[in-house]
Amino acid sequence: MDKLTLTQPDDWHLHVRNGEILKTVIAHTARQFARAIIMPNLKPAVTTVDEALTYRSEICQALPSGSNFNPLMTLYLTPDTSVAEVKKAALAEHIHAFKLYPAGATTNSESGVNDLKTIYPILEAMEQEDIPLLIHGEVTDDACDIFDREKVFIESSLASIVKTFPDLRVVVEHVTTQEAVDFVFSASNKVAATITPQHLMFNRNALLAGGIRPHYYCLPIIKREHHRLALVKAATSGNPKFFLGTDSAPHLTGSKENSCGCAGCYSAYGALELYAEVFENEDALDKLEGFASFYGPDFYQLPRNSNTVTLQKQAWTVPASYPVDQGSITPLMANEILSWKILD
Ligand code: NCD
Ligand code: ZN
Repeated sequence: MDKLTLTQPDDWHLHVRNGEILKTVIAHTARQFARAIIMPNLKPAVTTVDEALTYRSEICQALPSGSNFNPLMTLYLTPDTSVAEVKKAALAEHIHAFKLYPAGATTNSESGVNDLKTIYPILEAMEQEDIPLLIHGEVTDDACDIFDREKVFIESSLASIVKTFPDLRVVVEHVTTQEAVDFVFSASNKVAATITPQHLMFNRNALLAGGIRPHYYCLPIIKREHHRLALVKAATSGNPKFFLGTDSAPHLTGSKENSCGCAGCYSAYGALELYAEVFENEDALDKLEGFASFYGPDFYQLPRNSNTVTLQKQAWTVPASYPVDQGSITPLMANEILSWKILD
């Protein structure tokens, strides 16, 4: 097989930032995807419907001319989020979810929630209004080993959220462990997960063996090989609880190649090609369309796309970097060869 035509996919977890960098990264996403769930972790955080609609206009203005790309907006949950805002969000056409960051868990999560129990009334309102909760599933306890933070979050917080709010739709974002995969498999069909290309392709040796490679550093951090294998199995299983979410998270090259480098991998430039690589290695290209194009919209109760994209088997080298106004962005797998290419 050297050509693969799929229903156009969507990205169910994406960071596009704002300001100058937005133009470059949104063009990459809009080339591949019809829609994307836009993360609200700007500085300051996007916490209200009005702020999200302003941000959405900025994104639409940054799109290449003629693009039909549709940004699906989310709101950042803070200790101050009100039930009124939940109700307003549920009625707003362009708002599709709330994002929960435990305070301090990742890039720009300072405004997140420290004590999850304090927002239970808000989660109850979300359950009633049937608006999904997207969770960055890591504890922030300094004493907890960074490689265990997802697993501990599941035990200490996620299990209780799902049990207390059985009708709340929950996406466990960017799952990275066997434990997360097991949890989602055994939960009700209200619980789903996104999986990133980097967590499917690499284990922690890519980050740490033979030198520190900052462009493989993201949160949750990439784990051991047996976890990667569990993720690959879930993504290629055809189970609709697992769908595509790149977590493409651009940072300037200088902010990553730094004594205290930022977390986030940039994959939007070639997201579908990266996933195709994984599915082909598993001999599961027939499962790619469900994962990339069907299960996400089904979970979010949105129509599937009707147009298509075509991938061609054609080796190409990922650029060393993409220039942006204040410097450059180094992509995931810079200078390496990918074997599928999306046709324009
Ligand atoms: C994301 C970012 O840079 O905004 N970074 C990351 O490592 N994934 C935040 C996030 O999704 O955790
Ligand atoms: Zn993210």
